Amino acid sequence: MKLVFIGPPGVGKGTYAKAVSETFGIPHISTGDIFREEVKKGTELGKRVKEYLDRGLLVPDDLVIEVVRHRLLQEDCRRGYILDGFPRTIVQAEALERFSPPDWALLFHAEDSVILERLSGRRICARCGAIYHVKYMPPKIPGICDKCGGPLVQRRDDTPEVISERLKVYREQFTPIIAYYEGRGKLVRIEANEQADVVVPRVIAALKKLY
Ligand code: AP5
Ligand code: ZN
Repeated sequence: MKLVFIGPPGVGKGTYAKAVSETFGIPHISTGDIFREEVKKGTELGKRVKEYLDRGLLVPDDLVIEVVRHRLLQEDCRRGYILDGFPRTIVQAEALERFSPPDWALLFHAEDSVILERLSGRRICARCGAIYHVKYMPPKIPGICDKCGGPLVQRRDDTPEVISERLKVYREQFTPIIAYYEGRGKLVRIEANEQADVVVPRVIAALKKLY
């Protein structure tokens, strides 16, 4: 099962990818999570990508491609992968097609107003990366992760200015990516306006039909 999840920031890609990963036992690989982790650890890679993340701009293709290529060589990817946030450019899509072509590209859609509300209320666990929403997916104890007890924080790029830059970058980059997968007969559109308890079963049902 080789899948790419595409769609605007905040549509819920990470949320759905985690659920699909648990259901089918396929690793969830988020390029955004990988970069945020490197920034947190202060590695060489982290230092190179920090500025892009903080401004909501795309990290250069060669860097991203190398990170993904390397990750997909790992043992746990033998049965497949769920790539969340990659590819974002045609150069990335073509590179992926060369080293491990996906079976399907799932494209998620939600209205702009829904996306803005999701991003402004998002909290993530600083320890394990679990995703919450203050209103829609709240933790049992405010500010504390249900899974590991870690503190919940807001992502640095979830400020109004950076959100609007990320949406702009998405609009500029994604038309060709969508056309790329549509032209290859690999595009599956998923409506994601509703709550996660509606969208997650929808994604799983769509995948059960495809496999
Ligand atoms: P990345 O981490 O990929 O961010 P993004 O694409 O902006 O996507 P998000 O993680 O913001 O949203 P999501 O769709 O996963 O939503 P989530 O599930 O969290 O990228 C960050 C940066 O890294 C980029 O700006 C760039 O600099 C760099 N980068 C990464 N990949 C790159 C690449 N390939 N090339 C170049 N640069 C790259 O959900 C959002 C919120 O909504 C949560 O609070 C959640 O609880 C809630 N929620 C989710 N679904 C629902 C629902 N159905 N109903 C109600 N609430 C919901
Ligand atoms: Zn946690």
